[in-house]
Amino acid sequence: MEMRFVSTGSYLPEQVVDNEFLSQIVDTSDEWISSRTGIRQRRVTIGEGTACMAAKAAAKAIARADIDPMDIDIIIVATMSPDNCLPNTACEVQAEVGAMNAVCFDLSAACSGFVYALNTAYSFIKAGIYKTALVIGSEVLSKMLDWNDRSTCVLFGDGAGAMIVQASETGIFESVLGSDGTRKDALTCASRYIRNPLVSKENTPSGEDTLDYVKMEGQEVFKFVVKTIPLTIQQVIEKAGCTQEDIRYYVLHQANQRILESVAKKLKEPIEKFPMNLDKYGNTSAASIPILLDKMNKKNMLNRGDKIILSGFGGGLTWGTTLIEW
Ligand code: ACO
Repeated sequence: MEMRFVSTGSYLPEQVVDNEFLSQIVDTSDEWISSRTGIRQRRVTIGEGTACMAAKAAAKAIARADIDPMDIDIIIVATMSPDNCLPNTACEVQAEVGAMNAVCFDLSAACSGFVYALNTAYSFIKAGIYKTALVIGSEVLSKMLDWNDRSTCVLFGDGAGAMIVQASETGIFESVLGSDGTRKDALTCASRYIRNPLVSKENTPSGEDTLDYVKMEGQEVFKFVVKTIPLTIQQVIEKAGCTQEDIRYYVLHQANQRILESVAKKLKEPIEKFPMNLDKYGNTSAASIPILLDKMNKKNMLNRGDKIILSGFGGGLTWGTTLIEW
């Protein structure tokens, strides 16, 4: 059994935060941010959480697929910024959209999360276990940022993207996924420290309380992506028995325009084959690929039979590249 891509949906919080605004709260400028990253603005939630945004994106995808929510067999939410430790985000989405027959869980793989989630859904469908999956990426990164740290707070944004996929007789789905935990310190954000009657606060790292923020070794991440991602793209294209000429679009995680330009250059592909919306939304981690696909879908840029590369990369380190047929 193969998998077909039925519909997409996305949700972005209304509040726009532009580079000018950030230059008033940290020592930065529109010139620095846009020339180093390509980002000009991002959306920041002032109330809606990860599950709420995920459910809004999901509701749009379900409506466009014109399916009964009760037909959804599985909901996977890729996120590194859930609202709660319990319940998981996918269960909250389930209740909101009325998909009461679905099995629901979250998946944490930072900016590779959506590609990993899609591969998980594909594995269930390929094995004949489930027929219809709702796959979502949703992030509230604004709550994980130190808004006094100019090296990180300018990069990220909030948002959610969703997709309905279904079992199909035909289709192409080839992947190269990988992880390297030895480079885990390149991108970090602690959750809770061990705290119980046997462990006092003084024993936690530097006696801090439980709040921590995203820290990133920017240049390390940049070098890793530019070295690894073109290779994985070439590998999946070969696995699928295709050539680069067959690829309509490279839909990469929207981290940084310079990263995408470097990947395009390494592959000797025109930058026009790398759609971008990071100028408007910044880096939304696991949500960036499904948000971009939804925007492309609405512009009628996706046609049945198009071969598209999806590629996510980020904390862990993790990476995942998949060739799909739309
Ligand atoms: N405004 C002004 N100056 C800044 C800012 C800012 N917002 N941020 C950093 N600087 C300064 C630094 O303090 C430093 O100053 P110094 O030379 O006086 O010490 C100088 O700019 C250069 O800093 P670098 O970190 O070397 O800047 P770089 O050119 O590497 O750009 C960036 C930083 C944009 C983060 C880049 O390394 C990058 O894009 N890395 C990839 C990161 C990424 O894309 N991560 C996402 C993938 S993973 C995920 O999505 C979770």
